[in-house]
Amino acid sequence: MQLLANVEAYPGFDTTIAMLKDGAPGLEAMVAGMGHVERDVRVRSVGFGGWPNMLGKMEFDAGVMNGTTREVGSVGAVPDTLPVSALALEVMKRLPHVMLTGDGARRFATEIGFKVDETLYEDSKRVWWERLVKELSAEDLAAFPNIPLAPLSRHITDPERVRDTTVFLSSDVRDTISVATSTSGWAWKYPGRLGDSPIPGAGFYADSRYGAAACTHTGEMTMRCSTSRTIVLAMKLGRSLDDAIKLATEELAELTTGFLAGVVIHAIDAAGNHKVVNFRCQDDIFYWYWEPKMAAPERRTAEKSSL
Ligand code: GLY
Repeated sequence: MQLLANVEAYPGFDTTIAMLKDGAPGLEAMVAGMGHVERDVRVRSVGFGGWPNMLGKMEFDAGVMNGTTREVGSVGAVPDTLPVSALALEVMKRLPHVMLTGDGARRFATEIGFKVDETLYEDSKRVWWERLVKELSAEDLAAFPNIPLAPLSRHITDPERVRDTTVFLSSDVRDTISVATSTSGWAWKYPGRLGDSPIPGAGFYADSRYGAAACTHTGEMTMRCSTSRTIVLAMKLGRSLDDAIKLATEELAELTTGFLAGVVIHAIDAAGNHKVVNFRCQDDIFYWYWEPKMAAPERRTAEKSSL
């Protein structure tokens, strides 16, 4: 058994660890823990504490994958719903589909008993509006939201601080390796923007025979490189965990056009190893790691990529 989670996971990892110890399937344990993260306003990049899109509306992304069956459930740009990682798990369990987005995802949530939630935190609303007031002319502000949003999307956010995600990766008592993600996405994003968190292969991937990977920060890069799938496939082809991550960071480093910023890779292998690598994020990156011989999860520092 093991649990690897990013630094935002602190409101939820105790729940996840208790359930893993009780023999719960990894995805059930991680989604239960993640629900606490998604409801906690101290976590400013996920769920209720996260940031809205350019129109001041919350749109959530989440994904789950069982590495034994390789079943996936994901939801993108979901309005009015907490917690969306649980909704992604229900997509996996109940539908013949892998991914639902927007109003369809909300309709499904209502059908299976999720209530309609108030998801815009008062402080996020205040910060969102103050930023618009700073960026827009008096004329555009008066016309808002009936103005072109695309010109704003190039410069209205600080990508290092407001495009985070919570990711949990675990191996359970059955040696099933699974992964779960959840985020409110890029703050002030263009409405309808999906990040990598709901995209299998980009933001997350798991195969119990080899391991799992999940990414945080710049989804615009990991979607171009299929970073999570690359890492698991490299392990399938015989590379070590370290070498698989190195290959993935080399691919990220090859990108020279488009939106470029930092990426954090979290990965585990089937032998119980783990690694977290900070690829070009300016700040130090921390994460949580637990295995049964530890009394509590340890907060550790991610290794900085040399690329
Ligand atoms: N990695 C989270 C996002 O790009 O939305």
